[in-house]
Amino acid sequence: MLDQKTIEVIKSTVPVLKTHGKEITTRFYKNLFTKHPELLNIFNHANQKQGRQQTALANAVYAAAANIDQLESIIPAVKQIAQKHRSLGILPEHYPIVGENLLIAIKEVLGDAATPEIIEAWGKAYGVIADAFIGVESQMYQEAEHQPGGWEGFRNFIVDRVEEESSVITSYFLVPEDQKAIAAFKPGQYISIKFVIDGEEYNHIRQYSLSDAPGTGYYRISVKKEAIGTHPGKVSVYLHDHIKQGDILQVSAPAGEFYLDTKKETPIVLLSGGVGLTPMVSMLNTLVQEQTERNITFIHAAIDSTFHAFREHVKNLAAELDHIKSYVVYENPTLEDEEKGLYHKEGYIDLNWLKGLNLDPNADYYFCGPLPFMKAVYHCLMDLGIHEQQIHFEFFGPAAELTETVKVKA
Ligand SMILES: Cc1cc2nc3c(=O)[nH]c(=O)nc-3n(C[C@H](O)[C@H](O)[C@H](O)COP(=O)(O)OP(=O)(O)OC[C@H]3O[C@@H](n4cnc5c(N)ncnc54)[C@H](O)[C@@H]3O)c2cc1C
Ligand code: HEM
Repeated sequence: MLDQKTIEVIKSTVPVLKTHGKEITTRFYKNLFTKHPELLNIFNHANQKQGRQQTALANAVYAAAANIDQLESIIPAVKQIAQKHRSLGILPEHYPIVGENLLIAIKEVLGDAATPEIIEAWGKAYGVIADAFIGVESQMYQEAEHQPGGWEGFRNFIVDRVEEESSVITSYFLVPEDQKAIAAFKPGQYISIKFVIDGEEYNHIRQYSLSDAPGTGYYRISVKKEAIGTHPGKVSVYLHDHIKQGDILQVSAPAGEFYLDTKKETPIVLLSGGVGLTPMVSMLNTLVQEQTERNITFIHAAIDSTFHAFREHVKNLAAELDHIKSYVVYENPTLEDEEKGLYHKEGYIDLNWLKGLNLDPNADYYFCGPLPFMKAVYHCLMDLGIHEQQIHFEFFGPAAELTETVKVKA
């Protein structure tokens, strides 16, 4: 436990550190990778270049520090991060390395303002925060390994089948090389896959949501090829261009705090933009498999029908089952999309359109998509008066703030 004096020093310095938050974490990562280049095997390089991981780490550390005397209040946030740490294989021995470099970065950025008293207090506080993470993660490691079909670390899976879902999204069906059972998962969860790519100095680990229901004997992931622009996505392009049936991928056990609560009986609204539909399709398929009577509204935004994955699948389910409704929003529909009536709205999802759907205010709302899409949907749900407890979302990257207002993008 921390003494009162330390708590006071921490609480009074959080605001100062927060204003330098990203500067400190940027410096921290630079030092960390210079001294421990081996950690470049687990950190996502693109998230570093775009600054998303620096912001996520800074926000998490300061939120924890601000609540240092009541860490239990941030346990949901700790769990979400710990799930990702567990799926990546972060171990207790990594924590002192991060702690040491974080303190060095604080000293470097604050200069003389970082008195020995402040540095000592932050050292102690980091120790308490790290212990909280290590404790939660240790339990997660136990569960991942000892559940039926579970395993430790990364396990070899064979690509059993490859299916094209749209012009940019391809599904990969993965079965374990050892042919033994595989762990069940909750619809909405993801796996981490470690890629060893010829010619690359480091491994690359990426998360992919499982896109089918549990209990099939395989894990299906559906991946968008991120090939546009000057920085083509390393792993997604490699998967699309090189990975074929029979290849082996290294997979860690399913993880994540974003999942459908199948025990509830509330109606469900699933909103997705682009490849953010993968966890939603898993949830939808699970609900169909369980023959639930819960009302389901599946709302998907894509650029046009050529980018729209699982279009026929979702359309057919909605046609067969009265309790499923499906709505499609195309940002830029083609002439053919218009002629065939393949969408319900042109442009972006917006508040007025959502109001017109008469969505149930007591439903549970799940959403995922590009950041601007998520910010816009979050604001719409707030404006519709949906309670925070009914709103669930997943980021396909480090967590970010959703509270800024922005234009929607599919
Ligand atoms: C929980 C979770 C679930 C996910 N589920 C899915 C899923 O179901 N399907 C799916 O397709 N993806 C999913 N993702 C995203 C996935 O993990 C990868 O991030 C995605 O495939 C891109 O990886 P990449 O290696 O191809 O791109 P990266 O090389 O990691 O690049 C990512 C993006 O950054 C850009 N970029 C790279 N370098 C730079 C630079 N120097 N400057 C500026 N921009 C740069 C790239 O153009 C690209 O758009 C999920 C992510 C998370 C966290
Ligand atoms: C108390 C200390 C720590 C805190 C507060 C913390 C916080 C975070 C946060 C907020 C994220 C983003 C998660 C998300 O949004 O999904 C994250 C991801 C990550 N963390 Fe930690 N972390 C800590 C310790 C560590 C340690 C010790 C390591 C190992 C060296 C580590 C490695 C990673 C990696 C590799 C990721 C994923 C990065 C990416 O995908 O870009 N973290 N952490």
